[in-house]
Amino acid sequence: MLTSRYAEVRAYTEQLAAPLSPEDQTVQSMPDVSPTKWHRAHVSWFFETFVLADHEARFAPFQDQYWFLFNSYYEAVGPRYARPLRGVISRPGAHDVGRYRANIDDRMQDLIGGLDDGTLTKLAPTIELGFHHEQQHQELLLMDIKHVLSLNPLEPAYAPRRDSGGSAGVLAWKEYEGGLVEIGHESMADGTFCFDNELPRHQQWLQPYRLADRLVTNGEWLAFMADGGYRRPELWLSDGWARINEEHWRAPFYWIERDGVWFEHTLTGTWPVDPELPVCHISHYEADAYASWAGKRLPTEAEWEHAARLEESDGPANLADQQTWHPRSAGVSSGALRQLFGDCWEWTSSAYLPYPGFRHADGAIGEYNGKFMSNQMVLRGGCALTPPGHARASYRNFFPAGARWPLTGLRLADDAVTGRGPR
Ligand SMILES: [Fe+2]
Repeated sequence: MLTSRYAEVRAYTEQLAAPLSPEDQTVQSMPDVSPTKWHRAHVSWFFETFVLADHEARFAPFQDQYWFLFNSYYEAVGPRYARPLRGVISRPGAHDVGRYRANIDDRMQDLIGGLDDGTLTKLAPTIELGFHHEQQHQELLLMDIKHVLSLNPLEPAYAPRRDSGGSAGVLAWKEYEGGLVEIGHESMADGTFCFDNELPRHQQWLQPYRLADRLVTNGEWLAFMADGGYRRPELWLSDGWARINEEHWRAPFYWIERDGVWFEHTLTGTWPVDPELPVCHISHYEADAYASWAGKRLPTEAEWEHAARLEESDGPANLADQQTWHPRSAGVSSGALRQLFGDCWEWTSSAYLPYPGFRHADGAIGEYNGKFMSNQMVLRGGCALTPPGHARASYRNFFPAGARWPLTGLRLADDAVTGRGPR
């Protein structure tokens, strides 16, 4: 039912923002980060702009200037406030944004409840897109507040720590025969949602390959660092080598060295680096350098998706509903690929490009994904901050190769010679 799904998605955003004070919700700690209250308002703007404006009788914007303030990147909708300056906007405050959200909620529920079946069928995909858009921002809200809190010397935590403990277990390899395979979402015709960038489903040729059955750990990353990983140009892509020297990267993004001991800032506070947990907050450049150091490579997105579709679930994925707010250790292998969904978004070696036959939607909504298909790399699988129901085998996340503030990690891949594994 669309109305209950609407209420559920909208309430989860407010649930995630609830532990944050109005002051917390106002800070923008770098241009890539948006204030929490901006996320809460922007996802409401999305419903107002793409649903209410065209379908509500006697539509009037909640507030004229909100169209300008809370437009993210839609050129066709009109001009917008400069992204790097979102943090200087003290008004509307967090409570005013709450009033905006409540207004949009009332109007959306009235609209959905009052539509005839034909109009509702036509409008449902856009409303559904609004749900998935809001879920993307739920994840971003958490990644962004993590950065905001990381700059505070009081080291505040977003939530209490739920220490899963446990070991990463032995790393094993799973082999896949490959061949002519299909990737991409089946279609939206069967009622399941996907973004336009997951379409169309199409054929790809895969050479036999192997995937590590779990993510790379902090302990393994410490060995890479101890072996001069950040000081050996032969391991690095040229752009990556330039970047780590310009910005003096010597460890993952949220690592802090104190008296020779590494600590890690997390959403649950600052803790000594646990060697059994997956390494996280690394750029594509760092992931690629690590793979070179290990004598391996990153998987392509087609390899990742092909394997993900063959694998059985390895227990409940570590998504946001687990409330760990951080990747957890892989644990003992059950024979399936571990940590496939949740924990960390996994860098692939694939550039973010349109699939053969990709068509974006007409109008402003067509700007959602397609216009970002340059200078970004694909990540797969979801992370510990991804809302439940928002991870799937065909999902293509993307970030520039130098991005470190998203919750990213890596899984090693390798060529396989024998091709004796599952198809
Ligand atoms: Fe957005």
